[in-house]
Amino acid sequence: MSYQNLFKTLWDDYTRRNPHAKKVYDTFIARGETVANDHIALRTFNDPRVGVDKLGSIFEAYGYEEKGTYDFHAKKLFAKHYEHSDPAAPKVFISELLIGNFSHELQTSVKNCIDQIPLDTLTPEELINSATSWQLSHATYKKLLTESEYAAWLYAFGFCANHFTVNVNALHTFTDLADVNSFLKKNGFKLNAAGGEIKGTRQECLEQSSTLAEETTVKFSEGDKQIPSCYYEFAKRYPLPNGELYTGFIAASADKIFESTDVSNR
Ligand code: NI
Repeated sequence: MSYQNLFKTLWDDYTRRNPHAKKVYDTFIARGETVANDHIALRTFNDPRVGVDKLGSIFEAYGYEEKGTYDFHAKKLFAKHYEHSDPAAPKVFISELLIGNFSHELQTSVKNCIDQIPLDTLTPEELINSATSWQLSHATYKKLLTESEYAAWLYAFGFCANHFTVNVNALHTFTDLADVNSFLKKNGFKLNAAGGEIKGTRQECLEQSSTLAEETTVKFSEGDKQIPSCYYEFAKRYPLPNGELYTGFIAASADKIFESTDVSNR
């Protein structure tokens, strides 16, 4: 498998779960745009069997290298980002929930889930596309939600792409991110307004916005429920003082972007 095929598999699954992302993509294409992917984001737990380093190694096997680390103290997350030597390859942002900072009950729930992943038979590529290998209970989802929105989301959706990101620099018919945002709203898409529609500044060399995650039906043992799924992100990068385009991430902005899947935001 090439890394292009790996991203194609992740994209197909992501747009199946989030039809609005495909609609946004198609809306750009209909305008005559070429949509390049700035980065994808994956979520996981800091269990060594599936943690950031484990998932990161899957991309390293395709020629990716670790380029930055990030701490999200309030949300109790740690993250790394990876880049490929081919600048056209999307960056990969992987975060993990630091489960040791949560209740014993949450830790037990998470461990139970990971114990059920058939790690012996899954290839690394299958693991990051494996969604949930565990029985889903809505009671557990609600319980996790009281401690961490991130934990609840990961419990409900498992291993998959949390979001893809339109590379705004590669669009040629928009002047800036605000212009992209107006275009999206005019076409009926809802944006995440937590912390303002645009997170980050030109001075920080990265501006990002995102749609609000749409609701999707998840099959729980108690029956089908509608819960927030994923969002689509838009990133505009600016050059550093040395003239090179900034390729990292801004923890404070990502912190707000994480809230695009918050149940309490709608
Ligand atoms: Ni992102």
